[in-house]
Amino acid sequence: MSDSSRFTITAALPYANGPIHIGHLAGVYIPADIFARYKRKIGDDVLYVCGSDEHGVPITIKAKKNNINPQDVIDKYHKMIENSFLEFGISFDIYDRTSNKEHHIVAQEFFKKLQNDNKFIEKTTEEYYDEKEKTFLADRYIKGTCPICGYDDAYGDQCEKCGTSLEPSELKNPQSALSGEKLTKKETSHWYLPLEKHEEWLKNWILKENGSRWKSNVVGQCKSWIESGLKARAVTRDLDWGVKVPIDNQTGKVLYVWFDAPIGYISATKIWAKNNNVNWETYWKDSKTKLIHFIGKDNIVFHCIIFPAMLKSYGDFILPENVPANEFLNLEGQKISTSKNWAVWLHEYLVDFPNQQDVLRYVLCINAPENKDNDFTWLDFQARNNNELVAILGNFINRVFVLCHKYWDGKVPAKNNLEEVDKNIILQIESTPKKIGDFIGDYKFRFALQTLMDLARSGNKYLADTEPWKLFKQPDQKERTETILNIAIQITASLAILCEPFMPFTSKKLKQMLNSNNSSDWASASNINQINEGHLLNSPQLLFAKIEDEQIENQINKLKKS
Ligand code: MF3
Ligand code: ZN
Repeated sequence: MSDSSRFTITAALPYANGPIHIGHLAGVYIPADIFARYKRKIGDDVLYVCGSDEHGVPITIKAKKNNINPQDVIDKYHKMIENSFLEFGISFDIYDRTSNKEHHIVAQEFFKKLQNDNKFIEKTTEEYYDEKEKTFLADRYIKGTCPICGYDDAYGDQCEKCGTSLEPSELKNPQSALSGEKLTKKETSHWYLPLEKHEEWLKNWILKENGSRWKSNVVGQCKSWIESGLKARAVTRDLDWGVKVPIDNQTGKVLYVWFDAPIGYISATKIWAKNNNVNWETYWKDSKTKLIHFIGKDNIVFHCIIFPAMLKSYGDFILPENVPANEFLNLEGQKISTSKNWAVWLHEYLVDFPNQQDVLRYVLCINAPENKDNDFTWLDFQARNNNELVAILGNFINRVFVLCHKYWDGKVPAKNNLEEVDKNIILQIESTPKKIGDFIGDYKFRFALQTLMDLARSGNKYLADTEPWKLFKQPDQKERTETILNIAIQITASLAILCEPFMPFTSKKLKQMLNSNNSSDWASASNINQINEGHLLNSPQLLFAKIEDEQIENQINKLKKS
């Protein structure tokens, strides 16, 4: 395709300090996956990268809590997380990890270049120190009250309630998260990225160039950051878990996790490129490549301000074309919390709902926290499954297959003369792929999925209005019945293609049922002659099953016990 584009799609690297839950999927990995799958389907050159974020205080805190080594923590959760993504059909081209030696080399080289090019400043300051643990404290090692929203459990680097990025000195009532000891201060020196020097271009680039294209929640957060004045940010830490600072005699210092982690996107790309015999730089340095960062709202400043400043300082990297950050997903009205076990864990979901990945993918997309925080409830999950997936999509497809097998032994009947009702639905078949594609291209995944369901809904209505099961019994209506079912089959074939980004498992089943190896690129979903007359269909499989009240009660009870 001559006008195809190239996309480097990144999904925030999850911390390998716990399994992943529905909040992760809804906020980041499902939207990014829909985007990547769709772009591949229209023939674009897509690289979708992710990996585990294995450094930083979240990992060491978890290790300390469980009395194990950080390495044990990351090995356990990296495997679990990678497996969950695989099971839910998240179609990364590579899922790497930042403990990878390759990543350490890339991150160190990145730091070294900025240091050699005088892009950092070095400062000696007094930092919080825990006398009992004999260690400097930064980031999540310090807890206190958020100066912005008053949340009591804010971290030294960020308030997870309001998303504000913080410095430890800004917290009210700071305490050591390690020992609970009173904090003292001690001198130490670090390298800083002088963000104030980047203020001018960042302002132009974010507010002028991207202001109207980026989501308003993203631009809004950047704006308030820029307006409060950009300050130098330390990019090193006094810790021993992490990527070592690549300078002699700097034992006990590592790169700040937020410095090394986003470089993980680049190191993952390098590994993928090497395995696939392509040039990694095409995906990071070619101005025609579009870099898209999928993240949650707590990651906005890192991806819109700090990482771009790092890339710009390095020199020849492209900057993100868009950063479609989502808001947060709550669970039954409360903030999802790993420590309080208030979450739906992906590995546990699959035990209770085996092979029902697409149901969760569907619910998390149709109800995604795209523009505001949103709530996942088990009752809504049940209703969406029973009233939408079973009653609309599954029901339509099942009726079509049952009728074709009953009347013509599974052979697709002919399309004969068209009536008004046929022409109307044909128009909808023809226009739906572009409509869905445009929504996806605009990061409006809920609308995109609603548009898909509208086609299935119209399919149902088409059958209800034309009643082919009645017509078939009338000798002079044989041809009419054939036409109706031919069109219904074409709708099914379109749905098989169009549902792929959202529900890849269902798409695969549907294609098997259709017994069709037609080229299934996106555009062919608007072809109303996709399946030929006489083509033999396979028998229908169960696509979606009703979820009973008891199953939902069990889930709610499970949550209540936590
Ligand atoms: N691990 C971080 C989090 O869960 C996200 C890191 S994204 C990256 O909030 F850009 F640093 F990779
Ligand atoms: Zn806050």
